[in-house]
Amino acid sequence: MGEDTNQKIYKTRDIVQYYGQLRQLQPAEQTVLNFFQKQLSSMTMLDIGVGGGRTTQHFAPMVKKYIGIDYSREMIAACQNRFNLTTKTISFDVCDARDLSQFEDNSFDLILFSFNGIDYISHDQRLQVFQEIYRVGKSGGYFFFSSHNLQGIEREFYWRNQLSFNPFTTYVNGIMFAFLRFFNRSINYTQLKASNFAILRDESHNFRLKTYYIRPTEQIKQLDSNFREIKVYSWKTGQEIPSKNDLITNSDMWLYYLCLIDKNFEETNQEIGL
Ligand SMILES: C[S@@+](CC[C@H](N)C(=O)[O-])C[C@H]1O[C@@H](n2cnc3c(N)ncnc32)[C@H](O)[C@@H]1O
Repeated sequence: MGEDTNQKIYKTRDIVQYYGQLRQLQPAEQTVLNFFQKQLSSMTMLDIGVGGGRTTQHFAPMVKKYIGIDYSREMIAACQNRFNLTTKTISFDVCDARDLSQFEDNSFDLILFSFNGIDYISHDQRLQVFQEIYRVGKSGGYFFFSSHNLQGIEREFYWRNQLSFNPFTTYVNGIMFAFLRFFNRSINYTQLKASNFAILRDESHNFRLKTYYIRPTEQIKQLDSNFREIKVYSWKTGQEIPSKNDLITNSDMWLYYLCLIDKNFEETNQEIGL
């Protein structure tokens, strides 16, 4: 698989350094770590898009076996330098989520793709990655990931939303608005409002990355064919967002999704001809 623009950016020195100095879990990740606390010691975990190892330091010591993968060789080198790898229970590998063929079916109890790592591939590849994650996950295991929320960015595309009583705030908003519109010239506010997902350049890493944004209800639909009991969490508060109405109006920049891998469900459906 050839390197795409996003992959090249995740190899650059400033970005590798940035992820290498991150330490804290995001509130939604802490919620889920607490949720699994008692089961972690018996879990085999795959951490996809591990970056500089921010999540490794929290999860790896708790689980039975931990594998961190990333398609950026430089990120994996940073993890190998950062952690003591004398223990056999922690390992890192260069691997693209779009090709998990090195892992057998039903290998992992917990699969993490944190901090929106899944948002840097195309729509079709994203659907394939969900399939692959389902394949390598064990039935009864979990997939936990975050993704950018289209409802969080669409308001930034509308000039009126940039106005404030404070002239300085209006000035700063106006500059960000101009950059956002410049880097996303092919799409306007009305088109975004009518879309369920979009690939945009946002301000993170200075508009260099192409980032997938999706409405939370659409994200749930994408997951529905493979996963059950999908729970959505605010990345900021770590609280679950249980109602559909709250999801439709939610404007967090990104949200976390916890999904149960239930392969018996699929088999039962096949048996009864659904
Ligand atoms: C936003 S960073 C997050 C890093 C780390 N998980 C964290 O939370 O600090 C996204 C990471 O996902 C990796 N990534 C993106 N697409 C990937 C893919 N298709 N396969 C493997 N890694 C990928 C990038 O190289 C980058 O390290």
